[in-house]
Amino acid sequence: MLNKMKLWKAFNKEGLNKNECLSEQFNDSQIPHHVAIIMDGNGRWAKQRHLPRIAGHHEGMKVVRKIATLASRLGVKVLTLYAFSTENWKRPKHEVEYLMKLPEEFLGSFLPELQAHNIRVEMMGHKEQIPSYTQRAISKAMEETKDNDGLVLNFALNYGSRDEIMWAVRNIVKDAKNGIINEDDVTENVFSQYLMTKDYKDPDLMIRTSGELRLSNFMLWQLAYTEFIFTDVLWPDFSEEDFLNALNEYQNRSRRFGGLKSEEQNE
Ligand code: FPP
Repeated sequence: MLNKMKLWKAFNKEGLNKNECLSEQFNDSQIPHHVAIIMDGNGRWAKQRHLPRIAGHHEGMKVVRKIATLASRLGVKVLTLYAFSTENWKRPKHEVEYLMKLPEEFLGSFLPELQAHNIRVEMMGHKEQIPSYTQRAISKAMEETKDNDGLVLNFALNYGSRDEIMWAVRNIVKDAKNGIINEDDVTENVFSQYLMTKDYKDPDLMIRTSGELRLSNFMLWQLAYTEFIFTDVLWPDFSEEDFLNALNEYQNRSRRFGGLKSEEQNE
């Protein structure tokens, strides 16, 4: 079992390679392979400080850097972050524009650091509708990090799960019409291959910040057996310690995937 205090001390220990330090504390099998986060509460964080909402998004961007590098050091393989949903276009124009500029700012400032951590940048969502400068920044980061084999930092941008599922169905119907697939071939595994997450395992852990208790059209298919952690902390306040706490809570969960624990099998 992960010892949180030990881990936290190791994380803060100066003069030691943090990677080595952390890997000593962890049993790899206990680290979630894929963590998904709904980064919520930027607006409320700003409001509490009498700042415009975009100040919260900017602060939230800095937290992305902190949590991505920590997740990478801990050995998480995929970190999917809900950065902009298909429904977020309904927000005021200036807020949408600001959110669309954040990937450029984030990658402009932090790409060298992501490279140093062997992080690969990816995006899921419909690229066509996002501004060309956002597309360019993301494509450049994806290209420059494509050979990195550490953490995949997967931004869900202009992403909506119902939309994703609908496109999967459409493409399956198209492939069926073209004789590429038969009705009997459409298993859960094959269906998953038509989703934007086809290259990743389903998330083991989903964290939503800010106290809201809903999924907001995020990875509805993929989260079927994921462990959920909801925290009241607003995303701009979400700290490395909060992330470690979430991992600790995750490791204390009993995952049965609809079955029983092995010791219960014969009861
Ligand atoms: C939800 O909070 C947050 C978003 C819609 C945007 C999330 C984006 C970031 C954290 C920055 C992303 C950074 C990069 C690098 C792309 P909210 O605005 O709904 O907050 P509220 O519920 O308090 O109003």
